[in-house]
Amino acid sequence: MVQKRKLIEVALPLEAINRESAREKSIRYGHPSTLHLWWARRPLAAARAVLFAQLVDDPSSRLAEFPTDELQRAERERLHEMIERLVVWENVRDEALLAEARAEILKSTDGNPPPILDPFAGGGAIPLEALRLGLEARASDLNPVAVLLNKAVVELPSKFAGQAPVWPGLKDSRIGGWAGGEGLAADVREYGEWVHEQARKRLGKQYPDADGLPVIGWIWARTVQCPNPACAAEVPLVSSLDLSTKRGQEVWLRPVVASGRVEFVVESGVRRGEANKRGQGAKFDCWVCGSAISPEQVHSQLDVSDKPPNRLLAVVAAGNRRRVYSEPTVPHLAAARGLVDEARRLRASDPNLGAGARGTFGGNAQGKRYGFFTFADYFTDRQLVALATFNDLVGSARAKVISDGGSDDYADAVATYLAFIQSKMTNLSSSVTTWMSDRGAFRETFARQAIPMAWDFVEANVLSDFGGGWLTLLDKEARVIEANPIGHGVATQADAASLDFDGSLVSTDPPYYDNIVYSDLADFFYVWLRRSLRGVYPELLSTMLVPKAEELVANQYRLGSKAEAKSFFEDGFRKVFASARRSARDDLPTTVYYAFKQSESDATGSASTGWETLLEGMIRSGWEITSTWPLRTEGAGRLIAKGTNALASSIVLSLRPRASDSATTDRRGFIAALEAQLPVALRRLQQGQIAPVDLPQAAIGPGMAVFSRYSAVLEPDGKRMTVRSALARINEILDQVLNEQEGDFDAPSRFAIAWYRQHGYDVGAFGDANNLANARNTTVDVMDRDGILSSRAGKVQLIKPSDLSWDYDPVTDLHTSNWEALHHLIKVLERDGIAPAGDFLQVALSRPDGAVDADLVKELAHLLFRVAEANGWTKDALSFNSLVTSWPEILEVARSARKPTQAQGAFDFDEDN
Ligand SMILES: C[S@@+](CC[C@H](N)C(=O)[O-])C[C@H]1O[C@@H](n2cnc3c(N)ncnc32)[C@H](O)[C@@H]1O
Repeated sequence: MVQKRKLIEVALPLEAINRESAREKSIRYGHPSTLHLWWARRPLAAARAVLFAQLVDDPSSRLAEFPTDELQRAERERLHEMIERLVVWENVRDEALLAEARAEILKSTDGNPPPILDPFAGGGAIPLEALRLGLEARASDLNPVAVLLNKAVVELPSKFAGQAPVWPGLKDSRIGGWAGGEGLAADVREYGEWVHEQARKRLGKQYPDADGLPVIGWIWARTVQCPNPACAAEVPLVSSLDLSTKRGQEVWLRPVVASGRVEFVVESGVRRGEANKRGQGAKFDCWVCGSAISPEQVHSQLDVSDKPPNRLLAVVAAGNRRRVYSEPTVPHLAAARGLVDEARRLRASDPNLGAGARGTFGGNAQGKRYGFFTFADYFTDRQLVALATFNDLVGSARAKVISDGGSDDYADAVATYLAFIQSKMTNLSSSVTTWMSDRGAFRETFARQAIPMAWDFVEANVLSDFGGGWLTLLDKEARVIEANPIGHGVATQADAASLDFDGSLVSTDPPYYDNIVYSDLADFFYVWLRRSLRGVYPELLSTMLVPKAEELVANQYRLGSKAEAKSFFEDGFRKVFASARRSARDDLPTTVYYAFKQSESDATGSASTGWETLLEGMIRSGWEITSTWPLRTEGAGRLIAKGTNALASSIVLSLRPRASDSATTDRRGFIAALEAQLPVALRRLQQGQIAPVDLPQAAIGPGMAVFSRYSAVLEPDGKRMTVRSALARINEILDQVLNEQEGDFDAPSRFAIAWYRQHGYDVGAFGDANNLANARNTTVDVMDRDGILSSRAGKVQLIKPSDLSWDYDPVTDLHTSNWEALHHLIKVLERDGIAPAGDFLQVALSRPDGAVDADLVKELAHLLFRVAEANGWTKDALSFNSLVTSWPEILEVARSARKPTQAQGAFDFDEDN
């Protein structure tokens, strides 16, 4: 079969993908991630762009249509521009744009695109985006919670697409009918409100107002008894006395000790006094006698089933656009304690909630249980009864859907979403949910990928319509269903190692090493989902807890030792990719995401054993790596500031099955191939929209493509070249190629590059500068006159952008250079923004002598970025990086027909001639 190179194997508009991926993190409404928590979700923008580029041909493989480099480049730019629109969240429902994208995919796949399989589907980002792009989505995961999530995005809305709601009287309430998931979403809203109403009837008494204001939550502290026998006071474990640290709205608790007991008074204004918490972990002092209480003493008192009672510290209510904090009153105390018997009954009898829990894990609570023996123990009595009430009502709502005329399948779908809301609610309704005094909001149980210990916590008012309330969560859920793409998808439970990959194209984001132990985390939700949905999904939810044994994670606590954990993970990983390789299609590349662990980068940032192990594993399982793209969900600025060779948070690789009869080569052959192929690939990368900060990681792709094409590269001693050594060679050649690009520039620019390398924008000796200049056929004096540098009293210094004259006209300047053009552009961009920078470039490009070349200016910025970064000149690096990332827009202004504000000089110049 003829292999056509796909866009992902040549160039991607990475900057736009990264920018939109970062932006996506702050979208709160309608984003599928709000359906239910899942840890370390991939940004949808990245998943969408990757799938598109994985299927769409690079123009260089359509020679009949695009025979020249120029035509290929123009077509590539058109496709990149389409990706740039596709990744914008606000465009995800732009049907015209999606139709354009789908047509492009069909054109590149002979009208018959393959189904997309994600064997590690997790929260469903990749399958969901496959569906959006009109592809069949096959989602698979070992974890039942993930499978349910994927059903909710790729199966259910499509199964009932276009159906009217069954809630009585709703069907005909809308002119124009019910499109996509709108009917289903409307029913989820109605039955969800019905659930809320029933819950309010049963639980309303236990959720009183605060002096007529609706309560948002109650703030509690766990307590221990002071170990000093002469004191034995009740010690509330308060980690912070702050209730609100918002400027101008400070509220705090003042401890008052009297008669051997501490009480807390709510005060406003700037806080005085300290909590009884000392430093990290569980170190406290008694409020009354001041005795120190050790972490062991705290643990031993709390790690029992009958713990000392919690102390209610304060009530948070909703005032007029601000939070109102008050001291607890008797009705509040009574309401909280009113469900003790029912809670006891649940704890004693409910098999799901009674399942054995791991306790706390992560951070301050490493290895400690603090009395969390079962899943019910994570909740206060009132929380437990309320959550169970909503959970029971999911079943009642399901029965009501059927009695209102809905089919069993439809009732199952509505119940699934309602069960998600209840499950999601636990994240904001456990005794490890804390109060963020700076924001006046809840910090969820899973603020991190762990269950840490919380000494003081907040109990949400689940009947309110504030954070943590059923109605707020319901609204978010319904918005997701309404907007969900419709298509053909299926979600199944399977161990990726035993999955049938045949006929489908893989795009996947595997678990990485011991980063996240999904199954332990997901148990927290699973026990609730199993309680409400076991009847709906009897097989999927058959196990007491989430299956653990086959989970691909290097977990030493599960496997006994670090070494066992490592080999379990690496063997398992290889097994999956070897099995995928056996049935892989060779007409299309597979894509795999790889998430770096923070600790993976060493002092220089570039080496990472995990990354090398992954590449090694892929290559040995018969894969050829054809590209590696750094994905960022943080701004480029933060990455540059982190230092030399900082790593992007993850990488997406494209892979092809390597031919079984591929040749071996030696070190010399490998380097010759690199030298022949890397420069072209690199130039294409630079021409695309890629930030200089991302270039080194992106350049690994074409380098690895050369390396992994051979079945082995043999060192002079006959041993296989390691990936580590290949990466070092690729890096050397990258530097070499960038240095060779210096030859493309005009003489003053070549001088300035060399001088910048040695001195940055600092001073150096005139003699050295003159030697360097003469060797490049220019002189310091000429460059001084031209305004590139200043030469005074035997010292020479390049002029930095911010010191350049504003009185500069790029057309009337008799001798300009790409260096000058770049520096003036940075000056204008940093002070005035994109449009004036574009105007400047338009004028500079209009010079009749063609002294300024757009591609070269951009190439120079890439080159100088690398120099600045290697020397730790962060500010310079940021300037060069920003210029490249703004380049498409600057160029667009420069190429537009609009008359530049500064263009007068150009016309004068023409007239003079
Ligand atoms: C990095 S996550 C995928 C995240 C996903 N791309 C998203 O955006 O939410 C990896 C997934 O692999 C799953 N997993 C772990 N071991 C597995 C196995 N042996 N077979 C199938 N899935 C497994 C985990 O349950 C987890 O959902």
